[in-house]
Amino acid sequence: MTQPTPMTMGQQFGRRSWAEPWKIKMVEPIKMTDRPGRERAIRDAGYNTFLLRSEDVYIDLLTDSGTSAMSDRQWAGMMLGDEAYAGSRNFYHLEEAVQNYYGYKYLVPTHQGRGAEHLISRALIKEGDVIPGNMYFTTTRLHQELAGGRFVDVIIDEAHDPVSLHPFKGNVDLDKLEALIKEVGAEKIPYVSLAGTVNMAGGQPVSMANVAALRALCDRHGIRLYLDATRMAENAWFIQQREEGYGDKSVAAIVKEFCTYTDGAWMSAKKDHLVNIGGWLAMNHADLFEAASNLVVVYEGLHTYGGMAGRDMEALAIGIGEALQDDHMTSRIGQVLYLGELLTDWGIPIVQPVGGHAIFLDAKAIYAHVPQDRFPAQTLAAQLYLDSGIRAMERGVVSAGRDPVTGDHRYPKLELVRLTIPRRVYTQAHMDVVAEAVKAVYDEREKVQGLRMVFEPQYLRFFQARFEPV
Ligand code: F0G
Repeated sequence: MTQPTPMTMGQQFGRRSWAEPWKIKMVEPIKMTDRPGRERAIRDAGYNTFLLRSEDVYIDLLTDSGTSAMSDRQWAGMMLGDEAYAGSRNFYHLEEAVQNYYGYKYLVPTHQGRGAEHLISRALIKEGDVIPGNMYFTTTRLHQELAGGRFVDVIIDEAHDPVSLHPFKGNVDLDKLEALIKEVGAEKIPYVSLAGTVNMAGGQPVSMANVAALRALCDRHGIRLYLDATRMAENAWFIQQREEGYGDKSVAAIVKEFCTYTDGAWMSAKKDHLVNIGGWLAMNHADLFEAASNLVVVYEGLHTYGGMAGRDMEALAIGIGEALQDDHMTSRIGQVLYLGELLTDWGIPIVQPVGGHAIFLDAKAIYAHVPQDRFPAQTLAAQLYLDSGIRAMERGVVSAGRDPVTGDHRYPKLELVRLTIPRRVYTQAHMDVVAEAVKAVYDEREKVQGLRMVFEPQYLRFFQARFEPV
């Protein structure tokens, strides 16, 4: 099948500008920082941007998780919270929204994505099982490991190459999966763990053709297929823009079609769904519904709130409808592409093509003189903060953690810094400031020597590890 190479926003829309389908009704002042203050703050934070205080940050691109601006409709929904312990009206709104937009039969609410990952991992994985997926995500893989499983990456090779222009770098390599099934046996594989888009690959999408073929392969071996739907709406927008036959279908229709190839999904609603907290697990099989409904009351809350307040479920139910609108998605990803185009024009190495939720700076290419065990991406994130008070996130060797068997660092091919764009929060002027800051840090790249780790927590070390300059 021939697929077009991804186009820039300019190529896609000609010379006409696009703008957000909303106007601003309320603003939140942010602190303008100065160099001495930033030097103090990053030292106190152990050169880890997760340990900075938010009040010391000027433009916060740490994550797109829980950082969206809610609409006036969502805030109005917050006033309609039915805070009953059991059977809240808001739960039924949420259930209906998930059924309508994603098409799954059963819903189990959770406090956020990893709550749902915990439930599905515990319910389906046995000691010694193998879970194939299209690149790891930190919390997803950890829950699979804690349940006794081993994650195996079966994403296409192009995903590990920051300069490959493949339009669907999130795709599963079906040959790799087939070989794995042959090696370990289908009975050792409780499900395939598919994410759309793929966060750690740079927010890269999976094509409809790939999920359809994956489904057929899973069916031949009697293996289930579950989706990490955290950024599936963004994935659908890329299918609409890039895949033959989808140009005139809506994002909502594409999401629904994609989900028909899967047996269920888990969701961090803090991303696509435009809320500050929330998540869910949804499925078509009654056995998983029963197991998850039972586990949710142990770890999250009753099966009709799962750790969320009624008002949060209402804002989420409304957010789902807003998230799946084409105009919203065009401006959301359009803003990310705008920043990506500025950096590309200035020759700064970033993961190409630009993904849905973030720009990923290629720290390995920028700091080619810093070895990976001196944490180039961690170093770059710290330098960016020092330069301008912009907070980004390391997505390299620190995030990859240690191999549970050998205890060594896992050295991922991608050593990246993520500039994650919150939804409906920053303006185009903020993006200009960010691009100029990245350029300033890039121009000073020779002066930097890297970091050494002086404190390392056991789980998900990137959140709390501390560093010092070498
Ligand atoms: N799956 C994906 C693809 C994610 O990106 C995240 C969170 C989760 C699951 C877990 O969801 O945070 O609600 O428990 N990603 C955040 C990020 C933390 O910054 O990318 P959660």
